[in-house]
Amino acid sequence: MTIVVGVTGGIAAYKTVSLVRGFVLAGHDVHVVPTEAALRFVGTPTWEAVSRNPVTADLYDGVDEVRHVALGQKADLIVIAPATANTIAKLAHGIADDLLTNTVLASKAPVVIAPAMHTGMWQAPATQANVRTLRERGVVVVGPASGQLTGSDSGPGRMEEPDDIARAALTHVLGQAPATQGSAAPASAARSRRARVDSASAGTRLDLDGLRVVVTAGGTREPFDPVRFMGNRSSGKQGMAIAAAAAARGAVVTLIAANVGTDAVPDGIAVESVSTTLELEKAVTDAAGDADVVIMAAAVADYRPAQVQQGKIKKEHTGDRLTVEFVVNPDILAELSAARPEGQLVIGFAAETEKDPATLLELGRSKIARKGCDFLVVNNVGWNHGFATDDNDVIVLNRAGDIVMEASGTKLSVADRILDATLSRVP
Ligand code: CTP
Repeated sequence: MTIVVGVTGGIAAYKTVSLVRGFVLAGHDVHVVPTEAALRFVGTPTWEAVSRNPVTADLYDGVDEVRHVALGQKADLIVIAPATANTIAKLAHGIADDLLTNTVLASKAPVVIAPAMHTGMWQAPATQANVRTLRERGVVVVGPASGQLTGSDSGPGRMEEPDDIARAALTHVLGQAPATQGSAAPASAARSRRARVDSASAGTRLDLDGLRVVVTAGGTREPFDPVRFMGNRSSGKQGMAIAAAAAARGAVVTLIAANVGTDAVPDGIAVESVSTTLELEKAVTDAAGDADVVIMAAAVADYRPAQVQQGKIKKEHTGDRLTVEFVVNPDILAELSAARPEGQLVIGFAAETEKDPATLLELGRSKIARKGCDFLVVNNVGWNHGFATDDNDVIVLNRAGDIVMEASGTKLSVADRILDATLSRVP
């Protein structure tokens, strides 16, 4: 993915070096656009070295290539960190007087800002009104955090940590991925798993290095005829977030995407797009053969129409009522669990509409016993929650039915918690 990182004039600019480095290490093409003020804190050579791309703050550099338009159009995501009160005000009012503000104005990419400023400036009615305006336009605002400021006082105004900004930004973009086909050959990796923390990568853990992880995401669709299907409301966001989190931690990830866009999937993840349950069954069974971990986050249709009509079903033939006969689909999770090679970990999901926590837990316990997987991630879904949102609330059960973890937060942070809670079991 192409990420433009805007840096404005605040002391927190030094932390943005880590953010840029993290994006680059995750395989993204990163273009840093600092303001003149930002360059007083961190200079051009540093930005060029960490981003591995040329950097300028000058709107009039490279005029021949109309740089602000080119960058804006190329960007899949724009992250501005730190975002000063001044730049926030400019963005809110469409002022474009430097390369960064011109780039943002020329772009249709999602914008994520991480404000950083003194508490007084943050709380000023003008700043709050500008932030509200940006939020209303879909800009994602990460932070600011509260704590010790650069001076002697403390309060809200500190820039969020680079890891948190990266997570929020990637979760936001993964959720917005347009629907397309994506595919890449799975990289075969040595079965070497070293538990280590890569301190050089700005807090990016590579504790799943070389682990082969297969993740299914999205929801299967079962056609009745060439134009209609039975489907479900799964957006694929949680599964995609798990794939992204595992890859960021060094795993070799294969994502089997059922009817979800995969454009924003980070480079390096092998993607196979499928539609029906039988296609998903084949793809995941093939991929699971030499996997260390299989995570069935996809919502799978339990039934499919017994017959698929070759032509469109016509109302003049079916009349006021239409009866469609369904036949049961294979239970892929149960099959995978029963056939798994020794040492392979299988994780299932259970999206339930039950609201009572005790009954929800009981449903989860009987489901994991039925499916035979190692862990079950249980979440509550309903008309207005669970699907297509950026946040999630889960409990993870082990085979004995004990709760091993509970988490709520962004789907990317929940993804990391699920990986933490379950992958410690991998030999
Ligand atoms: N699953 C599967 N194959 C199916 C149905 C579900 O592999 N035919 C997997 C899902 O990917 C998920 C888990 O089983 O990991 C639980 O899915 P869920 O829809 O909650 O359970 P069902 O078995 O369909 O039971 P029910 O719909 O009755 O709750």
